This record gives sequence, C-alpha cells and structure tokens, in this order.
Amino acid sequence: MHSFDKDADHVAVDKVLSYARERLLMDPIPLDGAQTEDYLRSAAGQTITREGLGSTRAMELFEHTLAPACLSTDHPRYLSFIPCAPTREAAAFDVVVGASSIYGGSWMEGAGAVYAENQALRWISDLAGLPESAGGVFVPGGTVGNLSALVVARHTARARAKEAGTGARPYRIAATDNAHSSVVSMAAVMDAEVCGVHVDDKLRLTGAELRKTLEEHGPETFFAVVATSGTTNFGVVDDLASVAEVCREYGLWLHVDGAYGGAGLAAPSVRHLFDGIEHADSFIVDPHKWLFAPFDCCALIYREPELARIAHTQEAGYLDVITKSAEWNPTDYSIGLTRRARGLPLWYSLAVHGTDAYVEAIESTLEVTRFAADEIGRRDYLEAVREPDLSVVVFRRLGWGPDDYQAWTDRLLGEEFAFVVPTTFRGETLTRFAIVNPHTTKEDVNAILDTMS
Ligand SMILES: Cc1ncc(COP(=O)(O)O)c(C=O)c1O
Repeated sequence: MHSFDKDADHVAVDKVLSYARERLLMDPIPLDGAQTEDYLRSAAGQTITREGLGSTRAMELFEHTLAPACLSTDHPRYLSFIPCAPTREAAAFDVVVGASSIYGGSWMEGAGAVYAENQALRWISDLAGLPESAGGVFVPGGTVGNLSALVVARHTARARAKEAGTGARPYRIAATDNAHSSVVSMAAVMDAEVCGVHVDDKLRLTGAELRKTLEEHGPETFFAVVATSGTTNFGVVDDLASVAEVCREYGLWLHVDGAYGGAGLAAPSVRHLFDGIEHADSFIVDPHKWLFAPFDCCALIYREPELARIAHTQEAGYLDVITKSAEWNPTDYSIGLTRRARGLPLWYSLAVHGTDAYVEAIESTLEVTRFAADEIGRRDYLEAVREPDLSVVVFRRLGWGPDDYQAWTDRLLGEEFAFVVPTTFRGETLTRFAIVNPHTTKEDVNAILDTMS
C-alpha cells in the first residue's frame, strides 16, 4: 500500500483529484438526497473487504452511489438549517490542506499555516472591534467553540473567586431559550446549569431581563452570559450593548455566539445590530455558515487569549518543547490537541478575493432575504412571523398544518426542486428560509413561494 509505484500512484491520485475538480466546477449542482439504508446496502454492498476494491471501483461507488445519496448543501435552493456555500477557492483549497499533512496545533510544526489563519482571525476580530491583543483559533464548529469559550469563562471565574477568597464556585450560565441548542448540550458536558432569561418583544436578550435573572438566582453563582448575534431559527441579534453593560457591572464573562450571524458584522446594512459586541470576552463565528468556507470551521476569538491558554493548555512531558515555548500554539486555545489547519480555506479565499468581495457577497444575500420578506408580504396566502434582522425569514402558509408543511417539503425534495424543511415556534409549525448562498436568486425565492399557493 505504501510502496512507491509512480504510474499507479499517479492514476490513483488523478482519479480522486479529477472527481474533486469536476465537483468543484459543477454547474448546475444537483440537489441529490438521502436514500434508505436498504437501498444503499443493495446498491453499494460491502465496501470494506480484505482484498480492497481498487481505486476504480471505490471511486465509482462514491461517484455514482454514495455522493448522490448526500444532499448538496451548496445548492442554491437548499434553504434549510444553515446551508454551506463555500467559494470555489475555499472549497478547492480544502483539498490542499488535506494533501499537505500540515499539523495546525503548534507554531513549531505549522508556523506558516498558523500565521495565515491568524490573519483571517484578525480580520474577524477587527470587524467585531475587539482589541489588538485579541486572538484565538479555528475549531470544528460552533458547538466546540461555545464549549471551549465557556470552559475558559468558568476557569477564570473560579480562579478569581479563589483569589478573592469569596468561597464562591460559580456554576451557572445565563442565556435565553433562543440560544442555540449547543449551549444547553455543552453546559451538560460541563455539568453547568443554564438559567433562562426572558426575551423582550423582539425576541432579544436584554440587559434589563438579564439583571432580573442574576438578582433572582444570585449573581455570584454565574460564570458566564451567552448572548447570540443571530439566532438560528430567526436570525435575532440580542441587545449586546445593554447585555455587555450588565456583564461589566457584575464582572461576568460575556460570550457572544455568532456562529451563524457573526458574518453580518461585515455588512454595513446590519452592522449597527451588533453594537456592543466589542465588549465580548469571547466570540464565535462559523465560516462554514455565512463566510463561504467549507465544513467544518468555527473562528473562536478571545479578548484576552492568555486566559484561554491557562485554561486549555495540555501538559505532558513530550509536549514541553511546545508548551514551554513563547510561540502561538493554536491548540492551547480550545479543547482538543491534534488540529487540522481548518482556517486555511477561508484564509486562501480571503487572500484571493479581498475582504470587499465578502462584504458584497454577504450584502447580496441580505438583499435576497429582504426580497423574500417583501414577496411573503405581497402574497395573500403567506404571512411573515417576524421581519428578518439578518438572512433568515420565518413565515406561515395560511391554512396549513404540520402535515401540509411536511408533504410540501417531501414533494419539493422528491422532485429535487428545493430543500426547505418546516420549523416550529411556540408550538406552531412554520417554514423558514436561511439565505447564505450568494447563488440563491430572487427567481429561486419566487419559484419556491409559487409552489405554496
Ligand atoms: C447560533 C449557533 N450557535 C451554535 C451552532 C452550532 O454550530 P455547529 O453546528 O458548527 O457545531 C449553530 C449551528 O447552527 C448556531 O446556529
């Protein structure tokens, strides 16, 4: 398997790269869709065998059976959950990252990659108005980003309580019901408790409500507040300025989850919604959501990275050469040790296109979203649930119940026309467009809305 056979190696590599090339340049992209396990068992059969299938057969299986059984999240009419719409440069560069065996955990091993990733992180950090000293790391996704940040928040709060001799051992996180499900899940991983804060009439976390919750439960029991800059279901941006003020008053860590919406920082038309984010102690944004990078990538940034280094650095004799150095070692800023340089596809695309192209692309998705909201308002069989702040629109089809929404979703997917799943809010089934793909056009929106009449 590892012997060097120039001709055979070329063929094997070319086979994979030519598929990647074809997929990267495909236009239009097929929507495709999941198949049943029975179907896959009969179509693909047993793929792992003692002798191996050989590259021709294995690639054939992937191309003709397995790949078409995966939805194309970069399809312009994939509007469910949060789509993934990487630039061609970012997606292509992911192949380079895989091909290069770069270890992205330490400066000693991956200095060039770490340098480049840090420049991409700097761009994001500057958009948020964090100080020059801010820094962080690219992690696999928002869930890991939230967990890593909250671990630092708790570590710091407990160290400070110990130093002050208060005897407090903070174990609570304040967040609203609209915070992402990963916050509750990661709190469970940490054996922490999430304390619910009421939202205002715009579904936002506000300083006033936060204060009530802190006072009710005892501020000394909290180690962090999680605000969201772009909730997943609605794209709501919390009132970060008032929340930050209360956090400052109580000496509480403010973590801002911008996994989906953080990209809006780059868009002048919505930048004001994020006012106050410059006070965050930690902040995340997933470039695989609205910053046109491939899965999986979350930018995690700390106001004071040294606090994260103290909380996360793994100590072991064989790691001393790294951990005792003064260099920037990304692995010290999150959970996990071994690290793919997963920020490089974003870096490459940013380096190629420049940041203005990102501003333009994000604004274009916002424009299509506003168009969708207007169209929903114009059609007498549809009703918006809330005006979009960012690029998510939630609306109802008057007269429809849960089964109607599901049948509609199934029909559109069955025809490979679009992928739009229902959502629920306060017990009601609704539907939702998440528009982060610059290839999604106003015509796509109209075509989908027409199918609901
Ligand atoms: C606001 C928010 N936070 C966190 C996450 C979790 O991110 P990931 O799926 O990358 O773990 C998501 C995912 O949609 C999200 O929208």
